[in-house]
Amino acid sequence: MVTEQVRITVFDTTLRDGEQSPGCSMNHQEKLRLAHQLDRLGADVIEAGFPIASDGDFEAVNAIAAVIRRPIIAGLARACRPDIERAWEALKDAAHPRIHVFLATSDIHLKYKLRMSREECLAQARESVAFAKSLCDDVEFSPEDATRTDPEFLCQVLDAVVEAGATTLNIPDTVGYTVPNEFGDLIATIRRRVKGIENVTISAHCHNDLGMAVANTMAAIAAGARQVECTINGIGERAGNASLEEIVMAMRVRHDRYPYETGIVGEHLFPASQMLSEITGVPVQPNKAITGRNAFAHEAGIHQDGVLKNPLTYEIMTPQSVGVPDSKLVLGKHSGRHALAIRCEQLGYQFDRRALDDIYRRFVRLADKIKHVEDHHLLELIRDTHKPAGSATPLFEPLSNAAAASTSSYESSKPFPLAAESSAISLPVPVSAEHHDQEDYLWGV
Ligand code: KIV
Ligand code: ZN
Repeated sequence: MVTEQVRITVFDTTLRDGEQSPGCSMNHQEKLRLAHQLDRLGADVIEAGFPIASDGDFEAVNAIAAVIRRPIIAGLARACRPDIERAWEALKDAAHPRIHVFLATSDIHLKYKLRMSREECLAQARESVAFAKSLCDDVEFSPEDATRTDPEFLCQVLDAVVEAGATTLNIPDTVGYTVPNEFGDLIATIRRRVKGIENVTISAHCHNDLGMAVANTMAAIAAGARQVECTINGIGERAGNASLEEIVMAMRVRHDRYPYETGIVGEHLFPASQMLSEITGVPVQPNKAITGRNAFAHEAGIHQDGVLKNPLTYEIMTPQSVGVPDSKLVLGKHSGRHALAIRCEQLGYQFDRRALDDIYRRFVRLADKIKHVEDHHLLELIRDTHKPAGSATPLFEPLSNAAAASTSSYESSKPFPLAAESSAISLPVPVSAEHHDQEDYLWGV
């Protein structure tokens, strides 16, 4: 029996909410370049900007709407006519335009920011959505600060905007305050209580102030949200938005728990992350899940040994599945003989166990001093360690290029997860038979 997969709409807001993060502003050409990459990536909706915010934003939304034809292109607007008109002006040539209207609904925002009563808020939400609907069929409404809004009032506002024609109800955790089970409950309440909810899409928009944006988004999906709003590298206001690559890969790697599909092409995740970082000049934190420089790097000897024998030991997804060229064995003081031997082989040198031990001792002393041992350090160390004394035969022979190439790390073509019986990778690691059994555990340290 073929069960139909539930499809989650991926709404990328890197060019709008992401761009609002300090140091991440982009010029017109940069936005267009990134929009093309988001299109290749397979985002369903690209929020291209906030057209009333500046002429530059207007032009960028307008240009993206003109050239990116597959996805929906959204433009943000406050709940007032001038914003909505400006958004529509920017979007009207899009193949699939969407006006995204937002209005704060929490008492804190109403009292201190908008100085408005709940009744006024309700009326403004209804009128602005009705006006947007008169221009564009596809209207999204966001009750800003939804997670700190009285749920009773939130449902009243949502009832009103659905009646006025909203097609997507986006529930923002604007200040990153909620926690997964609470947010899941809120989405479930909305599904139960809002009239006409069966004809609209519920969306989650989470910020990362408590580091829970992705977890909250996953809880929302489990509770019935069918659109996720997110950004590449999780950039965005303050601590950022939910990270697109983390949400998508959580669904892929843990499909048993999150049996949902997206249209995202995994192999474009890393290129998108790199492009954004290059454009903004904001580096990705090294330990960032999926796209950080260390996400597939292994320095600890025991880990390196395991990964070389079978990547399943320490990798839950292949680097290739997210577009990372290869996993990296970082040579540092925690590395073991196994990784050292492989790197030496890749550089064209093969040693017997005794010679490798000799190099290894020197390598650890060096790594203690310089942290990361690069290839040129290693070559120097090999030369120093094995300078032929007098007439002694050199202890190592450089491998031919072909032989060196055949020792390239592990196979990238294997499907993932690998079959349980799949054998450990057979790299020509120079372990002599007598050492094999007893000392195998030493290989990683
Ligand atoms: O975080 C937020 O509330 C927003 C809205 C404009 C959707 O970004
Ligand atoms: Zn936001």
